[in-house]
Order: sequence, then structure tokens, then C-alpha cells
Amino acid sequence: PYPVYRRYRESAPVHRGASGAGGPETFYVFSYDEVVRVLSSTRFGRDARVASGDADAVPVPVPAEYRALRAVVENWLVFLDPPRHTELRSLLASEFSPSVVAGLRPRIARIAHELLERLAPHRAPDLVEGFAAPFPVLVISELLGIPREHHAWLRENAVALQEASTTRSRGGTGGYPGAEAAAREFAGYFRREVRARRGDDRGDLLTLLVRARDGGAPLTVDGIVGTCVHLLTAGHETTTNFLAKAVLALRARPHLLDELRTAPELPPGTVEELLRHDPPVQAVTRWAYDDTRVGDHEVARGSRVVALLGSANRDPARFPRPDVLDVRRPADRHLGFGLGIHYCLGATLARAEAEIGLKALLNGLPWLGEGGQQVDYADDMVFHGPTRLVLTPPG
Ligand code: HEM
Repeated sequence: PYPVYRRYRESAPVHRGASGAGGPETFYVFSYDEVVRVLSSTRFGRDARVASGDADAVPVPVPAEYRALRAVVENWLVFLDPPRHTELRSLLASEFSPSVVAGLRPRIARIAHELLERLAPHRAPDLVEGFAAPFPVLVISELLGIPREHHAWLRENAVALQEASTTRSRGGTGGYPGAEAAAREFAGYFRREVRARRGDDRGDLLTLLVRARDGGAPLTVDGIVGTCVHLLTAGHETTTNFLAKAVLALRARPHLLDELRTAPELPPGTVEELLRHDPPVQAVTRWAYDDTRVGDHEVARGSRVVALLGSANRDPARFPRPDVLDVRRPADRHLGFGLGIHYCLGATLARAEAEIGLKALLNGLPWLGEGGQQVDYADDMVFHGPTRLVLTPPG
């Protein structure tokens, strides 16, 4: 997508999309400064009811008939506005703090090594199926306190649920029934897990959520179910895409790959620069809550604004020679984790997974940079990354 972003960015930092019949107007924001402005402003929010002024509208981007899916998604932090957003976020923040994540690192490393042990003997392993996809699900499942024997089932459902967003970007409806079924399965499962934790402190994230509710926090059982599903899915496809895209980027740069493999640790800016250069989440969407301006455009209340993180991260006004992957550049102001109140809750965890996962692949597969590759990409412009990455060893 990057040459296309560049053309748009150079012609105008904000573009008005072709408006569909009767639908909201959509504006696409390509420059770093304008994306920062939109994501930092309280004039934009996530609730379609506020934007449209119609209290009966569905607040989240799920068609009304998919009730179970709606019930789950309506409780996702990423779709909440303050004050509910602030309350839930501060409740969760302690579980994703740097000190908690530091304590998790040995468990994350163990999961990475177990997956690699199973993967390494394969002659032509699929790095997505064998590593990048299960890895983040195993990590978040451990954090939540979900027993190992349920992990495969959880992943299948998380994938089915995510199909709904892929479908949306294609403009079809094919993925919704499967996502609805997955939402029902998840709701039944997590309700049982919540009941099992009443009066039984297992020291996991689910117990924390149950206790917070019992202490009068703003959490319903639906809220707990929605939060668990959100954490599973928000950290899944993103981290999977990061790892798969990082491997492809390094295979295209053999010198860098060799340098990173032989270094005892990845240079400190490596993960940030990979996230800047090719972020797993290419775009985030907001509603305009007021009549306002974005760039040179008058944006009416109720319009949709799509902030292209992938384009902002390649804006030469912010990052000189933006198309060059340079792990030594200061890339810490990149927008790969978003910005503002919805800045990625799991960013510290994601960085740890990215660093440990990538180093494990570099060390565990000595031929990572060699041989052939077969890659399939998801048909999704928002969550962008390979669904399959088969490496065929040399010789
Ligand atoms: C939000 C990216 C991993 C949990 C976000 C947002 C982005 C993002 C761009 C902002 C969405 C918006 O503004 O609309 C990523 C990337 C990841 C990653 C690139 C991996 C490389 C994770 C992990 C977790 C997680 C591992 C937790 C398990 C969340 C949550 C939100 C969020 C809960 C919503 C925060 C809020 O609304 O306050 N992420 N994420 N993410 N992410 Fe991540």
C-alpha cells in the first residue's frame, strides 16, 4: 500500500472519499501531523449513536441481527468513550504494566521455545501456523488463566470472530454467521469461567476481573466476557502479523538478518522500527462528534474519519527517508500502536512478545534467511499481514 499512500500524501494530506448512497461521508487522513491531531482530539469518538444523534443506532460496526457478536463487541475497550473507557482502562492497566510484563518474560520465552521445538524439525514449516499465530494466543491465555487444553479451541474461535472484520473490509457478509457462532461459544465458555472463580482466587486476570466486579466496579458479566474476547483478539492477529512481516522484511535484507542473529540481543530500536516501517494495524477509524475541520476539509458531525497509521509512519516530514528500514533510527514516535486514549493497552506486552518471538526465530532457525518462501496475504487492508508463510530450506 505504501506507494499509494505516498501519492495521496503528496497530493493532499486529507482526502474525501466517494460518498455511498445515504451513508456517512468518509475522510482519509494520510499525514503524520493530521493523524496525530485526529487521534488526540475529543471531537472524535467511537460511538455511532453519538455521531448520528440516533440513540437507537447500533454503537459498534456489527449489523444489528448478530446479537451475540454485538453483545461481545459493545464491551470492547476500543469501542468505548469516556467515562466508561477511562474506568475500564484504569482497571486493566495494572495487568499490562511494565513490571507485570517483565515478570511474564520467562513464561513468554518458554512458550516461544516450545513452539520452535515443534516447528524446527519440519522440512518446510509454515511460520504463521506453527509459530506466529499460536504464540500470542498462548501468551494471553496464560495471562487470563485459561487451561492449556482449551487453547486450540480458543484460537479457532478467535479466528472465526476476526473473520467479521475481514468481511467488513471486503464489503460482504460471509464472515458474520461464523463470527456470531464464535461469539456465542465464547460467551458460554467465559460465563462458566467467571462462575468458577467466584470465591476461588487463581491469581489470574480473570479472577481480577471477577473480583473487581464483586467490588462494585463498572463490570457486568457481559463486560467481563467482552473484555476477555477483546484481549484474545486484539493481541492475536496484530502480533501474528508483526512476526510474519518482520521475518519477510529481514529475509529481504540478508545483512540485517545476519547482524540481528549474531547479536546477543536485538538492538533496542529494532521492534519499534519494524512497527513503524510496516505496522500490523494500518488504519483506525473514528466518528466526528462535532462539525469540525480536518486538513482543508469541513467535516460534518457524523462523518467517518479513517486515520492511516501506515501512511503517517512513512511521512517524510516526520521520519526522514521513511521507506528505509533502519533499526538505529529513533522511531519511538511511530503510530503503530495508535495514539491518545485508545493507545494500545497491550503495547508493553506486545513489545516483549515481538522481541522474544523474533529472537527465538532468528536463533532457532539458522536458515531463516535462506531458501524459498511461499506467502499468502489476508484480504484485509486494516489488519495487514500474511496468513501463510512457508519457508523451504535450501538444498
Ligand atoms: C489498541 C496495535 C498487541 C490490546 C490498539 C490500537 C492499535 C494497536 C493501533 C489502537 C486502536 C484504535 O485507536 O482504534 C497493536 C499492535 C500489536 C498489539 C501493532 C502487536 C504488535 C496487543 C496485545 C494486546 C493488545 C498483545 C493485549 C493482549 C489492545 C487493547 C486495545 C488496543 C485492549 C484498546 C485500547 C483502548 O481502547 O484503550 N492496539 N496492538 N494489543 N490493543 Fe493493541
